[in-house]
Amino acid sequence: FTVEIDATDIEKGTYPHFMLKEIDEQPFVMRKIIQEYQDENDEIKLDGQVRQAMLETDRVYIIAAGTSFHAGLVGKQFLENIANVPVEVHIASEFSYNMPLLSEKPLFVFISQSGETADSRSVLVKIKELGHPSLTLTNVPGSTLSREADYTLHLHAGPEIAVASTKAYTAQIAVLAILAVDTAKAKGLSFDFNPLQELAIVANAMEGLTDQKEIIEEIARDFFTETRNAFYIGRGLDYFVVQEASLKLKEISYIQAEGFAGGELKHGTIALIEEGTPVIALATQESVNLSIRGNVQEVAARGAKTCVISMKGLEQEGDTLVLPHVHELLTPLVSVVPMQLLAYYAALHRDCDVDKPRNLAKSVTVE
Ligand code: AGP
Repeated sequence: FTVEIDATDIEKGTYPHFMLKEIDEQPFVMRKIIQEYQDENDEIKLDGQVRQAMLETDRVYIIAAGTSFHAGLVGKQFLENIANVPVEVHIASEFSYNMPLLSEKPLFVFISQSGETADSRSVLVKIKELGHPSLTLTNVPGSTLSREADYTLHLHAGPEIAVASTKAYTAQIAVLAILAVDTAKAKGLSFDFNPLQELAIVANAMEGLTDQKEIIEEIARDFFTETRNAFYIGRGLDYFVVQEASLKLKEISYIQAEGFAGGELKHGTIALIEEGTPVIALATQESVNLSIRGNVQEVAARGAKTCVISMKGLEQEGDTLVLPHVHELLTPLVSVVPMQLLAYYAALHRDCDVDKPRNLAKSVTVE
């Protein structure tokens, strides 16, 4: 009598899918990052060469694809707001033929879970020929992008198996926050933000969300079981998160989804709203809380089926889900979790292959 056991089933433990396991691992990843980037005096520990490169550059060019590109959009806000470093974020596959005029001392930052994305590597080859310095943020330190760049920052997220990237995204954002604060400190800038302490709060907030899975599954059932399309809206940092939310939903549930800036709706997109169109709004940013809620009313008045996910302190009556409060700059780390879960449950209810969606590979090694 023999029992056949698939090695991958063991790695999944009691989880039905890698994606759900990896979503749940995010609090541990935050704590691992804190541990890896903290010295014995509880200060940031970072490679001195990376710090020097950040001090010497006059402009950072972030190059990435897909989810890593979305993390780069958040990273730009950190580096500009905290460290006062100008940043451009580019889709790797577009960079070569839409190459911007470069600054005098550019630093190229490649963000890649796998470190093997061919589109990013081709940019790395090109900028190395031009003699520019490069830094890779990756989950796989021995990967091509890590070996070929001048410096590497490790994401410490542990192996990510599901095609849909989840914990690598939050790890990328966490490491970018640490990099921004380290640069600010090295420049002697003053700010009231200790990323290691704030990330510990984020880890607890993420954990709190695991108790909310039933509510999130219910939203997914209600909003996504039948629909062919769905829209996410947000402003400020929430706009970047809703772009990631829509990519997650598209790639594993095959629902045509888009993430829009709330203020852009009236410039065209609102024409798509009809009776029952699902619109999920994120409201975690104080300065735009009223405006995004105005956008929700606009689409609801045109028949949309709406749902607001807000943050403690900014909530209003009727919000479907209220996230635990974290530092405003770090809200993407928490608000993306229900978005990942919404995509997961949508795919599940539509009988899609959650971990291996059609037409997609985990690393895209062709240009
Ligand atoms: C994310 O869910 C995707 N599967 C995909 O967009 C991915 O983020 C992209 O291909 C970039 O991969 P990388 O981070 O390994 O470079």
